[in-house]
Amino acid sequence: MDYLEIEGGHKLSGSIDIAGAKNAALPILALTILCENEVEVCNLPPVFDIKTMLTLLENLGATYTFEGDCARVNASTVNKTEAKYDIVRKMRASILTLGPLLARFGHCEVSLPGGCAIGQRPIDLHLKALELMGANIEIKQGYVLATAPDGLKGATIIFDKITVTGTENIVMAAALAKGETKIINAAKEPEVVQLCEILNDHGVLIKGIGSDELIIHGRDRTLLNIPEITVIPDRIEAGTYLCAGAITNSTITLNRVNHSHLISIILKLQEMGFDFDLREESITIKPSPKIRNMSISTTEYPGFPTDMQAQFMALALLADGTSIIEERLFENRFMHVSELTRMGANITLNNNTASVTGKVPLNGADVMATDLRASSALVLAALVANGTTRVHRIYHLDRGYVALEKKLQQLGAKITRLSE
Ligand code: EPZ
Repeated sequence: MDYLEIEGGHKLSGSIDIAGAKNAALPILALTILCENEVEVCNLPPVFDIKTMLTLLENLGATYTFEGDCARVNASTVNKTEAKYDIVRKMRASILTLGPLLARFGHCEVSLPGGCAIGQRPIDLHLKALELMGANIEIKQGYVLATAPDGLKGATIIFDKITVTGTENIVMAAALAKGETKIINAAKEPEVVQLCEILNDHGVLIKGIGSDELIIHGRDRTLLNIPEITVIPDRIEAGTYLCAGAITNSTITLNRVNHSHLISIILKLQEMGFDFDLREESITIKPSPKIRNMSISTTEYPGFPTDMQAQFMALALLADGTSIIEERLFENRFMHVSELTRMGANITLNNNTASVTGKVPLNGADVMATDLRASSALVLAALVANGTTRVHRIYHLDRGYVALEKKLQQLGAKITRLSE
């Protein structure tokens, strides 16, 4: 199994390119199930989760070729409707095939994703919404058995909680439903906006894009024709590297970003004392004479993203004073705390709130990655720890970060990938 060996104490410099957004690419790949043609999807990040989704589509009968950062996916040949457990357990975002398969074929069998390290991750809101659209949902032997023999019908859906993949699943289901679907309390993440814009540009009239109320006019099972899609840049990868620049107090530039997706992250870093140069598609972070402590409450977009909570906790270890971090979306998203503590951090937990004492000396140690974003927080801490840190189980990182060690090497970090 691979691990990363990192020698702390080195400043960073230079620039890197940011990849396409994993969490935008996954619903876009699921969307190809609704298409009668081959779709070229570009700016795809070659991370493990994308490969898993492409494998899932292939298992359903689709074909694809992958060249450079583009995949040409032809799902018109899909002739199976079962998303099997052995794939879904590896990547819970496989649940994004539920809406499209049901809308197109009138039935499907999708394994329950199960929980993951950060929480139980239920899909009750997805299922309730599909039932309102006329589906019959049965849970049997760990599978969602969904049927809608006469097709899905438009409905008014109120999400009790804002759910990103729940909104995406229902938007895609509604695209082929008969009549109008209104989603109230919809997610507004940039990846949801891109999915809606693609549909709206290709024959599915959607009102309220970017707001928390969406109205989708379904095509009553008429498939779509979408020639090509370019995935938006990854705001969480960009935020992670901004934290790498901040924690090493370096000047680095990120290219191929959309900084309008980074506002809450930029504002929080400015609050901590950092400054920025923003240009068309790039952002440069500049050092701060001192790092100020701060408080964070994770919330849905455009608020501070839960996927950046762990990375900012690592940065808070260098701030003057105590920072308070409240995790409001997931019930178990503090597993990086015990590993950071092993490096010398002083963090106390009280339910879903962490108090992070700043300006503590960090020491290199053997630490273990537990989930995708927690892993990146350990790497960030290792960049400034005294001595050498080894981050184990980095398959978690490979799910969502393209060649993280290569990009950090390019910026001057002393980091190597080794096998144990
Ligand atoms: C998406 O997960 C992202 N994944 C997650 O990113 C991200 O952390 C999360 O949104 C929140 O922003 C993808 O887009 C593939 P939710 P998702 O449904 O859609 C509860 C990463 O690191 N809920 O918005 O699964 C749920 O328990 C990953 O890239 C229900 O109760 O998250 C949570 O408390 C990690 N019932 C809250 O809603 C449901 O049916 C938000 O979950 C659905 C969700």
